Formats: sequence, structure tokens, C-alpha cells
Amino acid sequence: MIIEAHELRKTFVVGRGRGKAREIEAVRGIDMEVERGEVFAVLGPNGAGKTTTVRMLATFTQPTAGQARVNGYDVVKEAGKVRASIGYVGQLGGVDEMTPAIENLMLAGRLAGMSKKQAKARAEELMAAFALTEIGNRPARTLSGGQKRRFAIAVGLVTAPPLIFLDEPTTGLDPQNRANLWEEVRKLRDQGTSVLLTTHYLDEADALCDRLVIVDHGKVVVEGTPEALKKEVAGDIVTVRLADGPAEGLEQARLLLTAEPYVREVVQEDELLRAYLDDGERGLPSVLRALDRDGLAIQSITLERATLDDVFLKHTGRSLRDAA
Ligand SMILES: Nc1ncnc2c1ncn2[C@@H]1O[C@H](COP(=O)(O)OP(=O)(O)O)[C@@H](O)[C@H]1O
Ligand SMILES: [Mg+2]
Repeated sequence: MIIEAHELRKTFVVGRGRGKAREIEAVRGIDMEVERGEVFAVLGPNGAGKTTTVRMLATFTQPTAGQARVNGYDVVKEAGKVRASIGYVGQLGGVDEMTPAIENLMLAGRLAGMSKKQAKARAEELMAAFALTEIGNRPARTLSGGQKRRFAIAVGLVTAPPLIFLDEPTTGLDPQNRANLWEEVRKLRDQGTSVLLTTHYLDEADALCDRLVIVDHGKVVVEGTPEALKKEVAGDIVTVRLADGPAEGLEQARLLLTAEPYVREVVQEDELLRAYLDDGERGLPSVLRALDRDGLAIQSITLERATLDDVFLKHTGRSLRDAA
């Protein structure tokens, strides 16, 4: 286990000294376990407590209560050892904007105790790995949004840590740069680096992570693999439109599919039938065969998967699309 957190809490006190101190419970008892080599996502809307959680795990802020171990070390009692085990890329990325990118990388290496030669070699290696070699001598501030994010991750990887934290790594990036960044995250996993990323993008968590927690109001709402969570909520949906006429054919098809053992439920919507299946990929051919057997001609048929938004909706009663 690279991360184990138990009942982690953080309460901020604001307005102290002005007579009306107020407590903000940013994180209200979070449990999570991240395996070595995993890409793990913390998914939740703005204000859910994602950044605060990551900052506690990265030792930048102390928990109000609870315990956490990172790479086997206690985040409070062994903060130095935790820091030596991690890379951290914050929401805004912390680099010197005026300094050339490659020098920023070398500086990070020197700060971590590398010799000049080691720092230079590592910087060049990372520039190549993140396709930044060409622009290495430009001040960091002149890089494009996508280049800046790749560069910020490179900085986090200077010491080749076993674990890297990426806080909202693609917020504000265009689709092309998001896709590029996802590729970089996958490469990290392929190389054996554990990744904990936070995001408020459903598709990002779905596309990238091995497992995730969904957090809301400072608490974990649900935990699991994207596949398992989606399956549990809604299964898959097969939508059928018949070729000829509505009425009797549609009713016949509805009864027929309802009787199939792998179908959970069939709902009629205008001229369409929506069949809820546990496993749409396996069920789809059987649906086709069943309709064919009864001589019902199909005009179109589609297979939809439940999304993580359906999962969020089920557990919180609202849509993450609206919340985020
Ligand atoms: N330093 C701070 N002082 C006071 N309140 C804070 C501080 N940092 C975060 N908060 C509050 O804690 C809650 C969780 O914030 P945050 O962890 O940044 O959420 P997220 O990253 O999921 O958007 C929010 O209500 C936020 O306003
Ligand atoms: Mg945040």
C-alpha cells in the first residue's frame, strides 16, 4: 500500500481575532487505500475537499485528526521521509516563470541533493520524455498551457519518486492537450509510478484511473473501480427501434425481452424500448436473437454504458455535471 488514510480530517478556522471565528470542515473523515502502481483518482465537485486531502497526504498541511501513511511513513511524524517519497504538482504548478524550463528542472534536482552533473542529466532525460527538449531554453512563462502542465509534471518527477500527486492536472486544458496529458499519466503507470490525481471531470476519472473515490462535502461517498461502480448502479442500456410500425410489435418485443433472464427491466419510451442489462456487451447478441426469433425486424439498436455521473447521482442525489 502506497497510501493509507484513516479518518483524515481538516477543519480550518477563519476570521480568528476578529471576534467571529468560524470553522470550515474541509475534510470530514476520509478513508482511502491506494495500492502501489495504481492510478487512483479522487473525483468530486469544487469545494469537496480534494486539494486539502492531497495537501495533507503531501505533508503541506497537518490533519486536524486521523492518520495517514504514505510509502509506509506517517505524514505527521515522518514528514521528511514522506516528502522524499513523493512528487507533487499543485493546481497552479509552482515554477519560476522567468527561468528557462530546463534550469527550473535542474534547480529542483539540486534542491533534492543531486550533483550538478546528475541534475543536468536528469533534467535532459525528463525534457526528452515529456517532449519539451525544443523549448527547454525558453522562460517557463512563454510555454503554452499544455507544455506548462507537462513541464510541471516533469518537475514533480525529478527525484523519480514512487508516488506523484497531480491536483486537477487537466483543468483548463483543451481536449487535445488533455488527451496528451492522459497519455503521460498512463506512461507513468507503465513505468511503475503510483499516481494519485484529483479531478472534477467524470470522463477523466473514467479514462485514467484503476480505482477511485468519489468525495463530496469532505467525505468519501463511494469507492471502487469505474467498471464496478457503473455496473452496480445502472448496468448497461440497450435501446431498440423496430423497423415496422409501433403498437403491437413494440408491446410484443417488450414482453419478450422482459422474459429474458439477463434483462433487468424494459422501459418503453415513445417508439423506443430501453432494456437494462447487467452486461450489455454479452447481452446484445441475445437481444438480437430473441427479437429475430419472433420475427421482429430491427431498425436500429444501440448500447449505452452507465457513466460515473450516474454513480454520483445515485449516491448524492445530484448530478456532478451540475455540481462541478
Ligand atoms: N486555507 C483554507 N482556509 C479556509 N478554508 C479553506 C482553506 N482551504 C480550503 N478551504 C475550504 O475547504 C473546502 C474544501 O476546499 P478544497 O480542498 O480546496 O476543495 P476542492 O479541491 O475539492 O475544490 C472549501 O470550502 C474551501 O473553501
Ligand atoms: Mg482543488
